Amino acid sequence: MYKIAVIPGDGTGPEVIAEAVKVLKAAADKFKFKVDLTTFDFGAQRYKRTGETLPDNAIEELRKFDAILLGAIGHPDVPPGILEKGILLKLRFELDQYINLRPVKLYPGVETPLKNKGPDDIDFVVVRENTGDLYTGVGGFSMKGTPQEVAVQSAVYTRFQVDRCLKYAFEYARKYGKKARGKGEKNTLALCGKTNVLTYIYDLWERAFHEMGKAEYPDVAREYYHVDATCMWMIKNPEWFDVIVTGNMFGDIITDLGAIIQGGMGIAAGANINPEGVSMFEPIGGSAPKYTGKGVINPLAAICAVQMMLSTLGQEKAADAVEKAVMFVTANKLKSLQAGKMGYSTSRVGDMVAEHVAG
Ligand code: IPM
Ligand code: MN
Repeated sequence: MYKIAVIPGDGTGPEVIAEAVKVLKAAADKFKFKVDLTTFDFGAQRYKRTGETLPDNAIEELRKFDAILLGAIGHPDVPPGILEKGILLKLRFELDQYINLRPVKLYPGVETPLKNKGPDDIDFVVVRENTGDLYTGVGGFSMKGTPQEVAVQSAVYTRFQVDRCLKYAFEYARKYGKKARGKGEKNTLALCGKTNVLTYIYDLWERAFHEMGKAEYPDVAREYYHVDATCMWMIKNPEWFDVIVTGNMFGDIITDLGAIIQGGMGIAAGANINPEGVSMFEPIGGSAPKYTGKGVINPLAAICAVQMMLSTLGQEKAADAVEKAVMFVTANKLKSLQAGKMGYSTSRVGDMVAEHVAG
């Protein structure tokens, strides 16, 4: 029995979460486990009604669950930053979800904007550090509003944060890297940084990376790429990558690039993981206000978030079945992954995946 907190959130969040829950229930039936779902109304509507992003007891409540499934946070009526910082980032930080895991995998039948690249070429994972860097809010203004105004926002990393992220990434590469999947000669972890300019924080990352790799993971090959070059190679030779580990800001940026080469926001999912605590799973596409309420948004990203949730909970067979069902639907059913162009409604896509999981 798993206790799952569900936060549908804003915009198209509730529509895609309904389909994700449908698939979760189908997987639970098929693989004989139980899920107990509790829905929370955090998001723009609640904020507009109460002036509160997260109630005081929310974090303590959420700690009691085995996992959290999140739809989307963000609304055009609320100024940027309020809901993102007050809900999404607060949950990541307070629950110490220090890993943001983002697979970049092109499924069969899905169109990629990369010429001459297919599912064999686009299949890697980004391990994004999720609690440090420019996201810590360290900084401030002085002389705000004057011509002499100064704004500072600092990238902050501690050795502790870097080491725990690297440990997760090395373990992940060892267990799920390309060789482990029969796809390459070795499992490889690439550090994505900017050691030529950010000579403090990425110096720390690079030293920690090689120290840990040498001492504890001699079986995992190590590579290093600057972030700008990473962007270039992700487009030109995505097949080079296996597991990439990087800081929070670069991870945010390169995973949007990753999402586009795997077919777009309709399919891209992410997991905010606290390996010792409660993790949260989400489609990474946001609230898509222009498609809200139309039944045309693609629910596959939210369904892929369920797949990651099942895998993290240790239900590997159920996770595989969900992934295979998604692959069946992309390969045989959908005309496109784009909202409104799938050839089916949001709920029909959810039905087709759920039916395939049920077998
Ligand atoms: C993401 C998003 C968030 C981030 C925003 C909404 C705060 O872009 O999950 O990648 O920057 O982490
Ligand atoms: Mn992002």
